[in-house]
Amino acid sequence: MATILGIESTCDETGASVVVDGYDVRSNVVASQVELHAKYRGVVPEIASRAHIENILPVIRESLGQAGRALANVDAIAVAHRPGLIGSLLIGVTAAKTLAWSLGKPLIGIDHVQAHLYSVMLEKNELPPLPAVGLVVSGGHTSLYRVNDWTDIHRLGGTIDDAVGEAYDKVSAILGLGYPGGPIIDKLAAEGDPNAVHFPRTLLGRESLDFSFSGLKTSVLYHVRGVPGKHHKSGVELNEQSRRDIAAGFQAACVDVIVKKLDRAVRKTRSRSVIVGGGVSANRGLRAALKEFRFPVLFPPMPYCTDNAAMSAGLADVLLRAGRTAPLDLDAITYSALT
Ligand code: KG4
Ligand code: ZN
Repeated sequence: MATILGIESTCDETGASVVVDGYDVRSNVVASQVELHAKYRGVVPEIASRAHIENILPVIRESLGQAGRALANVDAIAVAHRPGLIGSLLIGVTAAKTLAWSLGKPLIGIDHVQAHLYSVMLEKNELPPLPAVGLVVSGGHTSLYRVNDWTDIHRLGGTIDDAVGEAYDKVSAILGLGYPGGPIIDKLAAEGDPNAVHFPRTLLGRESLDFSFSGLKTSVLYHVRGVPGKHHKSGVELNEQSRRDIAAGFQAACVDVIVKKLDRAVRKTRSRSVIVGGGVSANRGLRAALKEFRFPVLFPPMPYCTDNAAMSAGLADVLLRAGRTAPLDLDAITYSALT
């Protein structure tokens, strides 16, 4: 039985978590920076790294306290060291290395994308039928993977422009609503008519497993603001009803594309199930649509959809058992190891 302290600082959440045996989450503390970034409608890297410096030690202390563990009773220190914002990553990586060195405990470097996929294991400890198609949908990623097991994962495709979470955040801004946009649009969409406005579904090539969301985002912008010039079209008045219908039409387009691509990926790779992770996996429209899918679809429990340290501490259990510990000169890296 291994007890692992996980640390998360890839983007704008500072997290620490104690996980036993790879699934039993004893604490999961997340200090969100949403309020600091909201007025800029996106994450400002310099503000994020400063906030991580302030939050990291209190968050680690809180997670140990909630789990009722002293540092001496932790078997290893895990940290998400890639991919992410370099200034943010460095704070978590430095804290983890310092703890591992001073305590004489193993250090484990975690790929954050791989951890988003592993998050379906937390609490439930239910292994999906493998091989599976993995889908990571977040503010930074919209990618498909083939998951042979937790340490054997290959990228199948991904967005060629915006990530789907980023499109949600931008559509929220176009509608004059808050940040982050995902939960706001998700809630509005449930009250709107998905057929009132038709937005394009970009599928790229016939067999493509890549995504593109920038055309959809521009289409929402033109619908709201109107189109200037030769093909002139006026915009629409934004009120409660039109906002709900636009949100519902936009969400229906996103969900349609994701379901079609998953279908393609499962067929092409002859997979037996689907694993979904990342912030957009909290989306109710996506969850509802995938209930009808022809293969089992696993979602993480809600607290582990958005960035957290529990998924890293959980995956670290698998890596520790495989002897895959990291040296003390572990680097912070901006891109994922999953190719
Ligand atoms: O995984 P995450 O916390 O951070 C990244 O690694 O990017 O994902 C954050 C993203 C944001 O873009 C946010 O708007 C989106 O996840 N999000 C949602 C929902 N909850 C969060 N998007 C759609 N529906 C939701 N319910
Ligand atoms: Zn993430």
